[in-house]
Amino acid sequence: MTNNEIIQSEYSAPSNIAIVKYWGKKGLQEPVNPSISFTLSKAKTTTKVSYEPCDRDLEIDFKFDRNRADVFLPKLHAFVERLLPHLPFLKSGILNIESTNTFPHSSGIASSASSMAALAKTLIDIQIKLDDQFKVSDLNKFRSRLARLGSGSASRSTMNGWVLWGETPVYNASSDKYGVDINKHVHESFKDLQDTILIIRKGSKAVSSTQGHQLMENHPYKEGRIKQANNNIQVLIEAFKSGDFESFSKVCEQEALSLHGLMMSSSPAYTLLAPESIRAIRRIQKFRDHQHVPLTYTLDAGPNIHLIYPSSQTHIIKPFIEEHLRPLCENSELIYDQLSLD
Ligand code: DP6
Repeated sequence: MTNNEIIQSEYSAPSNIAIVKYWGKKGLQEPVNPSISFTLSKAKTTTKVSYEPCDRDLEIDFKFDRNRADVFLPKLHAFVERLLPHLPFLKSGILNIESTNTFPHSSGIASSASSMAALAKTLIDIQIKLDDQFKVSDLNKFRSRLARLGSGSASRSTMNGWVLWGETPVYNASSDKYGVDINKHVHESFKDLQDTILIIRKGSKAVSSTQGHQLMENHPYKEGRIKQANNNIQVLIEAFKSGDFESFSKVCEQEALSLHGLMMSSSPAYTLLAPESIRAIRRIQKFRDHQHVPLTYTLDAGPNIHLIYPSSQTHIIKPFIEEHLRPLCENSELIYDQLSLD
């Protein structure tokens, strides 16, 4: 270790959108089923950390968008506790964390994936800078594994593009502990996807994803859901090889609606959908049936809709979005984003 000089680090990480959803956990933040997502270009978190070694128990100071944000401290302390066996420097010292998102805080876009991924990267970097004996055999796996301990979906935000997290017999290198980059198995046509996010409702959700995962533990459809997700992974990986957009769309929409169906059949039952979410889905289906364009959608655990389509279709789809979907969004807000590969 060096003496008490301050060590700094800064990293960004993208948000991601899952096509096959992670919904339900086991053990220490491991998924009950495999999931696949792609990372986004514009929706990112940048995290700057400075660490001052000293003998006191670890103190954390957290700023979000330049303002102190103590509400996040319990979550950060819980994360650090889980990281301690992997990053021993976190036992003591003063940690100043400053985080900013490129997307508005109240936009309804989940930020736990990008924020935990960016933070995991910075903390690993500090451990490496502090201790030249500290060796990591595979930095990508290590980053993803540690990000997972902060938020499951963050395991898919430490790398770019298409990522698979969770064990599946159809992909040998898959693991419940970290995400794997599967871009080399994905047809070129799935690498220039657009993701237009309809901000149907801003603000935070009534039931968090973490609570939703817990409700899967005794869910009456748990086994069926695990089977469905495993099957969808297989179908998606096949679609990726051939570039079959129709088969991709079927998986995408079934996963989105199943996720919300699982919430509606949990105990207690709840829904995060808004009337405009359903209205948007109907308009998307109608437009697609008339125009025969490759266009699909998915939803996160919230009311917002992610419209997914190849860039080549933008000239046909954008006018439809502007005329028929933007009016359904809160304050007419939406974000034109796309898959990021670097
Ligand atoms: C519906 O990763 O946010 O977005 O692990 O408790 O932090 P925690 O949950 P989180 O759950 C994401 C759920 C999802 C589907 C997905 O991203 O796969």
